[in-house]
Amino acid sequence: MPPEMSVEHTIAFVGSGNMARALIRGLVGTATVRADQIIAADPDGAKLSTLEQELGIRCTSDNAEAVRDADVVVLATKPQVFAQLLPGVAAALGKDTVLISVAAGIPTAVIERALPTGTRVVRTMPNTPALVGAGATAIAAGRQATEEDLALAEILFRSVGISVRVPEDQLDAVTGLSGSGPAYVFAMVEALRDAGVREGLPEETALQLASQTVFGAARLLQDENESPEVLRERVTSPGGTTRAGLDALSEAGFADAVQGAVRAATRRSAELGKNAEDAGS
Ligand SMILES: NC(=O)c1ccc[n+]([C@@H]2O[C@H](COP(=O)([O-])OP(=O)(O)OC[C@H]3O[C@@H](n4cnc5c(N)ncnc54)[C@H](OP(=O)(O)O)[C@@H]3O)[C@@H](O)[C@H]2O)c1
Repeated sequence: MPPEMSVEHTIAFVGSGNMARALIRGLVGTATVRADQIIAADPDGAKLSTLEQELGIRCTSDNAEAVRDADVVVLATKPQVFAQLLPGVAAALGKDTVLISVAAGIPTAVIERALPTGTRVVRTMPNTPALVGAGATAIAAGRQATEEDLALAEILFRSVGISVRVPEDQLDAVTGLSGSGPAYVFAMVEALRDAGVREGLPEETALQLASQTVFGAARLLQDENESPEVLRERVTSPGGTTRAGLDALSEAGFADAVQGAVRAATRRSAELGKNAEDAGS
C-alpha cells in the first residue's frame, strides 16, 4: 500500500528506546520515511545494533553527530536526562532544524530556553499502543513552531496511530486521558477477568474474552462511526442482562471513578510540568 504521505526530511532520534523504536518502525514500515533518512543516537550500543540490523537505519552513540545534518530532531529520552543532553543538542542544531519532543511533562518553554533563540519546537504526547501502531498522539506547538512543523509532526505520528492537535495547556489533560488511559483499560480488563473467574470461568478463558471484548468494542466505535451512547443503547434492551450490568456499574459510581482517575492523572502531570519548569528556569 502506498504511504498516506511520505516526507523527504532527514530525521535524527536522540534516545533510541521504546518510543523511538516504535516510531522508527512505524515510519519505515509505512514508507513515510526511508530507512536511509533516519539516524538514531543512544548510549546503548546493543540497542543501536538491533535497530541497525532490523530496520537498516544509521546509528551512532554521539548525539551531536546524529543532530548535525538532521532537518528534524526527535528527542526521545526520559525527561530526567533532558537538562544534561540539551546543551549538546543545541550546539549541533542547524538553524532550520525543527525539534520534536516526546517527553512527558517537559514544557516547550523549558526546551526553547536551552536552544538557540528562534528554534522551532513541537511537543507531543504519544501513548504505549504506538508500539503496535495503534497509538493516540497529541501534538502542541511551541512559540516558534509553524503550521508546516505541526503538519509534519502529524504525518510522522500517524505512522503509529492517530494524532490530534491541541494547545500546549491541554497536554496535561491529554496525559490524564490517553497517556495514562491504556493503564485504566488494563485495570478494566483485570477487573473483568477476575469477575469472570468469580462467576465460574477459567482464568485464561476469562482473560481472552475480556481482552477481545475491549478490542471489539473499540473497533465498533471506530468502524461504525457512532457515539458510545448510541452503541451502548443498541446492546441494552429493557429488562435485559446488559441493563442489569450497567445499573450495577452506575450504582458503584463507575463514571465518577473514571473521572476521578483522569482528574488525578491530569493534576499530577501539571505538577510534574511545574517542577520541570522550576528546575529549568
Ligand atoms: N513509552 C511510552 O509509551 C511513552 C508514552 C508517552 C511519552 N513517552 C516519552 O518518551 C520518552 C522515551 O520513553 P521510552 O519509554 O522510549 O524510554 P526508554 O525506553 O528508556 O528510552 C530512552 C532511551 O534514551 C537513552 N538515553 C539516556 N540518556 C541519553 C542521552 N544523554 N542521549 C541519548 N540517549 C539517551 C536511554 O539509554 P539507557 O537506557 O542506556 O539510559 C534509552 O535507550 C520519555 O520522555 C517518555 O516520557 C513514552
